[in-house]
Amino acid sequence: MSRPLSRPVDENLFTGPIGAEYRMLELICPNAALLARRVAERVAGWREGEALEAVEIGCGSGVSTLPLLAFRDDLRLTAVDSAAKMLDQARAHLSGYVEAGRVRFVEADALSCLRALPEASLDVITSNYAIHNFLDDYRQETLAAAFRALKPGGLFVNGDRYAMDDRAAHLSATQAEARLWFQKFGAIGRYDLLEDWIAHLFSDESPEHIMYLTPALERLSALGFADVRVEYREGVDTLATAVKP
Ligand SMILES: C[S@@+](CC[C@H](N)C(=O)[O-])C[C@H]1O[C@@H](n2cnc3c(N)ncnc32)[C@H](O)[C@@H]1O
Repeated sequence: MSRPLSRPVDENLFTGPIGAEYRMLELICPNAALLARRVAERVAGWREGEALEAVEIGCGSGVSTLPLLAFRDDLRLTAVDSAAKMLDQARAHLSGYVEAGRVRFVEADALSCLRALPEASLDVITSNYAIHNFLDDYRQETLAAAFRALKPGGLFVNGDRYAMDDRAAHLSATQAEARLWFQKFGAIGRYDLLEDWIAHLFSDESPEHIMYLTPALERLSALGFADVRVEYREGVDTLATAVKP
């Protein structure tokens, strides 16, 4: 099938083929699922015995939603994503949890969703591999809205791709990553998807999107978060947490 040379720009790159075959992420980034588990473990151990009201930002196909629900019975979760294709997959994968009333999937952009919530209404806000996709200004506003929506004592947990502060090291790691993608997608003859993931990588690495670790943590502190911590980091894959005082 011939492919158009250019597509209309959609800021959310998960509305296209990448979203439709999202399980392919496991192939090129197994750490995304590992981080999803770590996010959920962090939430599972948070104020045990208390029922928690939580929002997940960018739940995607539910890969990161499932462990959140499975590891903690008393979590009431609203899982938000702006891509209908991803939410369809999540609703199908987690239909049991939907029917049991444990999770509500909402099609919305993260910022609008958080802004629509009453101030200080959430115990926990989580995200996995979503916030790095945001435009920098939008990300800043979303984090400010997250701070506003959390109750005092509320927890923010983000498993994500935080770029290395050392620009040369980051470039070298990204080049190695791109080479690996060529090997992995080449081995299964999926150059069509490789094309989309490479286009996605260009977006992630662009100056308007890239989320360098130290400035990102400093921003959380500047917004008022306390206990800003990196609890895990391998390459760019990072578990960052913060608490609203
Ligand atoms: C890499 S996927 C991660 C999905 C899931 N959390 C996981 O760990 O597999 C990023 C998700 O963020 C969603 N997303 C991107 N921009 C968004 C926005 N502004 N608001 C809400 N969701 C957004 C995309 O649609 C996509 O499903």
